[in-house]
Amino acid sequence: MPPAWHDGTVTGAHEPRPADDPHRFDDRYYRRFYGDGGAHDAVRIGHLATAVHHMALWWGMRIRTVLDVGAGMGMWRDWYRTNHPNVGVLSIDVSEYACATWGHELLDIAEWKPHTSFDLVVCHSVLQYIDDERAVRAIDHLGAATGELLYLEAPTAHDLTEVVDPTGTDMEVYHRTGDWYRAHLERHFRQVGAGLWIPHGGVPMYELEASR
Ligand SMILES: C[S@@+](CC[C@H](N)C(=O)[O-])C[C@H]1O[C@@H](n2cnc3c(N)ncnc32)[C@H](O)[C@@H]1O
Repeated sequence: MPPAWHDGTVTGAHEPRPADDPHRFDDRYYRRFYGDGGAHDAVRIGHLATAVHHMALWWGMRIRTVLDVGAGMGMWRDWYRTNHPNVGVLSIDVSEYACATWGHELLDIAEWKPHTSFDLVVCHSVLQYIDDERAVRAIDHLGAATGELLYLEAPTAHDLTEVVDPTGTDMEVYHRTGDWYRAHLERHFRQVGAGLWIPHGGVPMYELEASR
């Protein structure tokens, strides 16, 4: 029998809650997954953000605006503020707690479609919290938001059973295949690799630089 969280239902001492109940993203949640042994920290995000920003420069992209979707503790936003203070960063999150604590706009990426695009969009470990129907809309909104480059991380069903450390990762999420994500992402993007996606019609890639 699959575990209770297999379909995204969170069970606990009280009523079952869906994985995308915004109230679950509270003080306890961030301490649990971003404390010692948690998913990642500001130092590791610094390595990742440095790499993403510099790959964008290598490809000739100008990163003047960034949208950080599901910003959580705001590590990407803070990295940009410190290292590239002239870059305008909009950080959004569906959690009232995260918005009040770390200063994001309270917006749900499944419901909010930006009217303007951002040079870089970051969606780091967010889509797995959103049910299928809403995740398709969220991906469409990422497509509308991305001017030059998307950095995306979302663990697939395979990752959740074979790759991640279940002690430091939130397993109470929607488990979907990589094929499911690719089918929806490829309507808007070409996959480059290492979590990077470029919009169709964006910067041309060498044949062996991006995946098909
Ligand atoms: C695992 S945390 C990742 C935080 C941050 N991106 C990072 O990697 O450090 C997931 C975050 O996504 C937010 N989130 C979940 N569903 C969302 C939605 N539909 N729209 C915007 N944010 C969402 C949660 O509130 C939470 O802060």
